[in-house]
Amino acid sequence: MPADRDRYVIRGGRPLHGEVTVSGSKNAALYALAAALLTPDTVTLRNVPRIADIEEMAAVLRALGAAVTVEGETVTLRASEFTTTVALPELVAKLRASFLVVGALLARTGEATCVSPGGDVIGSRPLDVHFTGFKALGATVEEHGREHVVRAKRLTGARIFFDYPSVLGTVNVLFAAVRAAGRTTIINAAAEPEVEMVASMLVGMGARISGHGTATIEVDGVDRLGGTDFAIIPDRLEAGTYLLAGTATGGDVRVTNARPEHMDSLTAKLREIGMEVEEGTGAAGGIRARCLGPLRVTQVQAVPYPGFPTDLQAPMTAALLRASGTSTVHERVYERRFDYIQQLHLLGAQIEVGANGIATIHGGVPLTGAPVRALDIRAGAAVVVAGLAAAGETVVGDVGHLDRGYADLEPRLRALGADITRQAG
Ligand code: EPU
Repeated sequence: MPADRDRYVIRGGRPLHGEVTVSGSKNAALYALAAALLTPDTVTLRNVPRIADIEEMAAVLRALGAAVTVEGETVTLRASEFTTTVALPELVAKLRASFLVVGALLARTGEATCVSPGGDVIGSRPLDVHFTGFKALGATVEEHGREHVVRAKRLTGARIFFDYPSVLGTVNVLFAAVRAAGRTTIINAAAEPEVEMVASMLVGMGARISGHGTATIEVDGVDRLGGTDFAIIPDRLEAGTYLLAGTATGGDVRVTNARPEHMDSLTAKLREIGMEVEEGTGAAGGIRARCLGPLRVTQVQAVPYPGFPTDLQAPMTAALLRASGTSTVHERVYERRFDYIQQLHLLGAQIEVGANGIATIHGGVPLTGAPVRALDIRAGAAVVVAGLAAAGETVVGDVGHLDRGYADLEPRLRALGADITRQAG
């Protein structure tokens, strides 16, 4: 695995052109790995991205007693029995998705102990939705120091309302509900394609679920789930990042395996700002975004799916620096997801962030290369996108954050014509 403190050296100002194929979805793959704990049988996952977060999740599951083999883009898991129901705090600290072991362990063994998970510093990241769901299904939740201990002698289906459509909260409660006795209805569930995918995977393992991909999910509990052989969906966030890199550089990029039906909020905005967007039909899919001339300004709100994704807010802001005039971006999911803007200022970007969570972007001002840092995965994507558009040399430090979410970023960008190299940190 490459070193975390490596740097990217980008000589920007070249329009990106050509085709790129994206990996399987990082987040969907993480949920699928955790879902494998729900069966004692073998689960084979295909199209798993080769990124650092998958290795971290595999370590969390192995520490519980699961056998996990990662071979290229195929991961094979078998959790015939658990050696412990306590997730290792030092592993959980690295990865937010590791908290999904709680729902899975609860369903399989009736108990789970886990500290609050780590993850990107992008705002307050509470767990109340997860606990509301577990309690509604009959579990108790106790705090022992930093640890949450969740137990249930028996899980019973219930009607559960979520205050907020939390993505991991929905998946965690779904994991518990598939083994609860009777019917569970989750209202105000997350509808993200990654949630829909993991629910479809569970159906393939024998679960009875309907409504996944909408705000109301219904689950009829079953006694046992079996193994499966399942392929992860393409990463819509990685696909969006390449389309935005093309947009920011005035280029023409086609993501060959992007799923248009997962990306309406982005393609609508790209059309609005003047990009020509072509969507492939049928199983092959694909999205091409081509710059035809100057870009127009727009307003963007980052909200839960099917709205514009918070995970593309940062690279979208970077791309809007090309549009002359004033655009606004309203981040409504994470209050601290504008920290990367200080990094864009170093390249000469003129952006103000108001106390109301709205960034005002004064676009059309030429950017100039400078040393910057990747603060987290998506913040890193924003500085790479801006660096590709900026004249001269941009050095992006701490690219380990990008390794967590983007497989082969540098060769893929190079194949699109970018001048980017990786240097040891
Ligand atoms: N929230 C609550 N209560 C909860 C949980 C969340 O109020 O119990 C609030 C949070 O405060 C936040 C909002 O809900 O304002 C969104 O949080 P959510 O729980 O939906 O996020 P998450 O499930 O922790 C996943 C992704 C993030 C992505 C968000 C939103 C993983 C591992 N993480 O996080 O991905 O930004 O959904 O779509 O799947 C990334 O890939 O870079 C990343 C950070």
